[in-house]
Amino acid sequence: MISFFSAIPIVVLILGLYFIHRACTPPKELKLIPTVPIYKFAWAVLFNKGQHEIQRVISESDPEKFGLVKIFLFSGWSVLITNIEYARVFFSENAQAPDGHPIKRFFGKGISFANGEDRIRQRKMATPAFNKSLSPEMIGECTNELITLLNKWNDVPLDIFTLMKRITVQTLGKLAFSYDMKALDSLEEEPYFIKTYEKVTELIQNPIYMILKFTYKLPLKVNLELSQVIEEFDRLIYKVIEQRKLDIAKEKKSEDHKDLLANMLENIGNENFEHNVKDLRDELTAIFSAGHNTFALSAVFYNLAKYPKIQKKAREEAFKVLGDSSKIPNSENVKDLKYIKAIVKESLRLYPAVVMLPFRKVLKPVRFNQDVVIPERTSLSLNIWQVHKNSDLWSDEFKPERFMNQDDKENWIPFSSGHRNCIGQNFSIMEQIVITAMILLNFELSLPPNGQKFDKMPLKSSFYTLNPKDINIIFSKLKTIVEI
Ligand code: HEM
Repeated sequence: MISFFSAIPIVVLILGLYFIHRACTPPKELKLIPTVPIYKFAWAVLFNKGQHEIQRVISESDPEKFGLVKIFLFSGWSVLITNIEYARVFFSENAQAPDGHPIKRFFGKGISFANGEDRIRQRKMATPAFNKSLSPEMIGECTNELITLLNKWNDVPLDIFTLMKRITVQTLGKLAFSYDMKALDSLEEEPYFIKTYEKVTELIQNPIYMILKFTYKLPLKVNLELSQVIEEFDRLIYKVIEQRKLDIAKEKKSEDHKDLLANMLENIGNENFEHNVKDLRDELTAIFSAGHNTFALSAVFYNLAKYPKIQKKAREEAFKVLGDSSKIPNSENVKDLKYIKAIVKESLRLYPAVVMLPFRKVLKPVRFNQDVVIPERTSLSLNIWQVHKNSDLWSDEFKPERFMNQDDKENWIPFSSGHRNCIGQNFSIMEQIVITAMILLNFELSLPPNGQKFDKMPLKSSFYTLNPKDINIIFSKLKTIVEI
């Protein structure tokens, strides 16, 4: 008789053989598509070799030539689109968000994973509310809080990701939820909201889910821990909702100044509140997660610190447009900060914050070329990094000037495109321009002496979004007056 414990290695062996068999036999329809070297890929992800290495492994299957690669992921075969021509397949209605993804456990029915009517309803509600709350002045006020904080840390190397997380969370909290996240009060303590959210995202991106998707359903310690932190995050988000509900009952804000959450609460109405509060939680979670994209600003500051000539030119523009260091840009000023906008766009090209779009399933078969037709239900993603690095379209250097003459190039897709494109795109670009300009008016940015040795921005091995690896930047109070 086999005991329970001696059966475990047998079960592991059978599962292992099953997965090796599946990994070695891709569906016949995908046979012609080049394959990403599976062991090298798993090694780069599991041993945290960094995003440059992950993408280098993908490049081994010559993504530029074919425009598609196939990869064994999430216990099955998927296709990654790597050129702009095929990207429209991904942007079409034929590509739908799948069910049963580990990430859904946290995001629930939020906009990023909803399909059909649900999605249309959520977008209709969020987009106008979002555009209404676009306010460079509010972003400027939060940036002033950041400047006050940085004055206390003059000439000290600071972790740029942590810093940018604080300013983006603070801005989003005030603009979208009228909630003070207390993210810029001090650098000593990490605000509890951020800490809890970070823990959820860390656990949810566990590489084991990527290789063996079904493990997210097992009664494992990691899954139990994930449930507990999600519960804690929910407690905090329900508190934000409750607080806003109480405040709205007291205040009389004009239509134009209603934030996103106020609009959502109004849409639900008091009678249906209890019934819909879970949906509201899901929507806010999606917006909170997408809305404080910390990486993009980190990359802007890294590039400014790395290229002093570009930094100088950007500062000159900021002084020319804004006049003095205490000025908060208004909407007209933002339009005139053209070189800073080009820096923001070039940073997003070289380092697309969302590097790989969440997988979708195609509803109907898709013909890519004469020989390749992928069957319905094939899992598909778009690798923005590869599209942005295509050597036929872009030179491999940081060159903001390329965005000065021609505006949105169609090969530039950091915010995706089509029916699921980013609703926060305008807000995000404006936010980055305002924060960058105000910081440049007050500080000189530099990399610590050992930082200069990096040829490329050091990145962690995260899968969907980029994450910098221990990048410190020094903010030194500007001493000289800039001649305009
Ligand atoms: C540099 C900053 C940002 C980048 C690079 C970015 C990028 C993206 C991308 C690539 C998508 C498509 C995801 C998909 O296909 O599933 C997306 C969707 C979305 N983004 Fe952003 N985003 C940024 C900032 C923001 C901000 C500031 C907000 C809101 C405050 C926001 C809200 C959203 C929402 C709600 C969606 C889901 C749209 C839908 O599924 O219909 N994003 N974003």
